[in-house]
Parts: sequence; C-alpha cells; structure tokens
Amino acid sequence: MEFPYLRLRRLRKSQTIRDMVRETHLSVKDFIYPLFVVHGKNKKEEIKSMPGIFRYSVDRIMEEVDEVYELGIPAVILFGIPSHKDEQGSSALRDDGEVQQAVRKIKKKYPDMVVITDVCLCEYTSHGHCGILTKKGDVDNDATLEVLAEEALSHARAGADIVAPSDMMDGRVLAIREKLDENGYEHIPILSYSVKYASAFYGPFRDAAESTPAFGDRRSYQMDPGNAKEAIREATLDINEGADMIMVKPALSYLDIISLLADEFPYPIVAYNVSGEYSMVKAAGKLGWIDENRVMMEILLSIKRAGADLIITYHAKEAAKLLQLK
Ligand code: PBG
Repeated sequence: MEFPYLRLRRLRKSQTIRDMVRETHLSVKDFIYPLFVVHGKNKKEEIKSMPGIFRYSVDRIMEEVDEVYELGIPAVILFGIPSHKDEQGSSALRDDGEVQQAVRKIKKKYPDMVVITDVCLCEYTSHGHCGILTKKGDVDNDATLEVLAEEALSHARAGADIVAPSDMMDGRVLAIREKLDENGYEHIPILSYSVKYASAFYGPFRDAAESTPAFGDRRSYQMDPGNAKEAIREATLDINEGADMIMVKPALSYLDIISLLADEFPYPIVAYNVSGEYSMVKAAGKLGWIDENRVMMEILLSIKRAGADLIITYHAKEAAKLLQLK
C-alpha cells in the first residue's frame, strides 16, 4: 500500500486543490474597522505608533469612511476623543459629541453601513479610568453603570446600529439593556467586550485615544492573562444580562480563549486584533524583518480559525485590498 503522505502532498501542491480543501476562509465581510474621531476641525493626524491609522475630526471623517465603504468592509467601530475631559466623563453623553456627530454623518450617507460605538468613559475622564472614582480613587462600579447606560442611549439616539461596552464594569450589560428598552431601542444589539484582559497590547491605542490612566492601572476591572475559566464566567454573566455578541480582547495571545468561547457559546464571537498587535507587525515590516503582508494575513486567518466570526482590526483596509487581488 502507498503511504498517504503522497496523496496529502498532492492535495497541498496544487493551489486550486489547496483552496478547495481549505477549512478557513477570510472575507472582507469578517472585518470591522476602528475609527478615531477627534475634537476640532480639519484634522487628519497620524498616530505615531500606528502607521497608516489616523484620527479624524468629524468634518473629515468621511474621507476614511468612503474608502472603507468602497472596499466592501461592512462595519466600523467608533472611538471619540473629546476636547473636554472631567472626573465624570460628562462629554460622553453629549448629543453633539464627536461620536454622536460621526454616527449621524456616516448613517446619513451609508444607511447600510453597520456603525458600532465603543461605550466607555476612559476617553472622557480626566483621570483616564473607565468609570467614576470613589473618594479613595477606586472605580465606583455602581455609580458608573448609570453613566454608561446614558452614553449607550445617546449613541443609539444618534443612530448607532450596535453598542459595544468596553469598560468591564459588572452589571453594565443589564443596565444598558434596560435603558435602551425603556427608551424604545429594544432592537439595538449589545456587543459586549466580555473577556477583556489587562494587557500591555493596548499601549498604542492609549496614545491614540489619550486614555492612559493618570495613576494606577486597570487590573482591578480587566482580566488576569493567566485565566481561562474566568473567561467563561465573564461571558456567561454578560449573556445572562442580555449581550447579543461577545468579544475577546486582545486576539493573538488569546486564541485559546477565542476557541474556548466559540465551543462554549452559541453566540457570534468577535475578536479584537488590538493596537499593539498591529504596531508590532508594522514595525517589523518597516525594518524588513518579516514579510508584512503575509504575516498580517496569517494572523487574521489564525484568529478566524480559532473560532472568531468577526475581527476588529486596524489591518482591515490593507487586508481587504489583498483579498481583492485573489
Ligand atoms: C477602552 C478600550 C481600549 C481599547 C478599546 N477600548 C483600551 C483600554 O482598555 O485601555 C484598546 C484597543 C486597542 O488597543 O486597539 N475604551
């Protein structure tokens, strides 16, 4: 009898057969592109540690959105950088805030584009934490819930299709769900950042969003990278509170967690290929140490193979262009 490896090799050798028997396929429809909306006028500022990623003021945001739409990327997720920050994060609730204005603008031109908003306070508080602080300087979980719910409502009013709380406060999915339902937004789904690790991979994002905590860190409300079972507990809580989609963040160092949740929960799984993961590929690519495009596609494919249905990624535009060439 012939050894099977000969036939395995045959299957791998022809590109056509390889494609036919491939188990995982990337598509532009898998991607969600993050957008930073900054206060002010006529701004397009490149983020130093994230080459190719810009912060746009509302009046110029459509330059980016047009391109994203033309490429066939179905969704964006918006982050706001306000001019005014205070202890309560009050700018997050303004109907004329950066995110609210951008949502209206995008939905007006592209009603079929899916607009997701990040619901959090860290970009809006003067101290950079994801919630309101107690006098002692700890994050006050319960006091924060009401503000987050109001923020989500404000995004829904502006026309957001999906709201995505990223703060990791306990009970925030329920608080947001109730607030949306009471105000006639029962149809707006919640994408919960259910499993968010206290990670060093968020470094470049914090520069981009000016949201580095002024003191302390986020370890009390973000997860310990050593824990996997806790991810199931966190996701279970969020689903019981009414989350419609669950997120794992970061992606690359947590492929096992993506796979675990994909096996465990019959819900769409979203993975956030975060800023630090992007910057590493860009830096090594610039130095000529890796084949940047191939590494990028391999990373995105691995996230999908692990079980993610959707990927939030700064690579979305470049990856979409490469997928078009195929
Ligand atoms: C919090 C938030 C963060 C990211 C997305 N939402 C930062 C944090 O928790 O510090 C990070 C995303 C990235 O690194 O690309 N609003």
